[in-house]
Amino acid sequence: MDDLKFNKAAAGFLMAGLIALGGYKIAEILVPHQELAENSYPIQITEQLASSSTVAAPVGPEPILAMLADADIAAGQKVAKKCTACHVFDKGGQNKVGPALWNIVNTGKGQIDGYAYSEALAGFGGAWDYQSLNQFFYKPKAYISGTKMNFAGLKKPADRANLIAYLRSQADQPAALPTSDEIAAEAQ
Ligand code: HEC
Repeated sequence: MDDLKFNKAAAGFLMAGLIALGGYKIAEILVPHQELAENSYPIQITEQLASSSTVAAPVGPEPILAMLADADIAAGQKVAKKCTACHVFDKGGQNKVGPALWNIVNTGKGQIDGYAYSEALAGFGGAWDYQSLNQFFYKPKAYISGTKMNFAGLKKPADRANLIAYLRSQADQPAALPTSDEIAAEAQ
């Protein structure tokens, strides 16, 4: 192929391309592209999403009342080693960073003599029954927002049950164990 033929052929291809492009443009003007109002085959994922979000993990601590009667007090005393930097549990023990915790089960919250509580705990109200101890030890700052107790919490139910059984034992007259009615109510 000599140069002239080549140029002609190239021009021919170019023209063909331009015509094709022009044709496409004209077609587009004559038959405007339409957006579909909705998918021809709507995709049903919304229901699945909604139902999967309803099976989210439960929040808050697992119940422990049923575990208290058979809890391991010696194991609870070991768990309490995590607390001894700030608390004493013995009779006659003195307040440290945190209040002295002899006889704490069923004692009013924020009532230990001579201890300067945060406003959050001092104003919280109620007594330290088993259930509130369970919630507090699970995540102190979630149960009493603004407490100055810097402790992350105990995530294992057995740790909390054993610890609470140990606290119960640290009293002249240990508090009554939960009744079967109370256990059933907590489990709901
Ligand atoms: C870093 C120090 C620290 C550690 C560790 C700690 N506490 Fe405390 N605790 C405190 C402080 C401070 C308070 C007072 C909180 C306030 O006034 O908001 C407190 C309050 C409490 C109270 C409430 C007492 C009352 O009179 O109302 C209980 C019960 C308690 N702690 C138990 C525990 C146990 C059990 C552990 C271990 C699992 C523990 N704490 C670990 C510092 C600590």
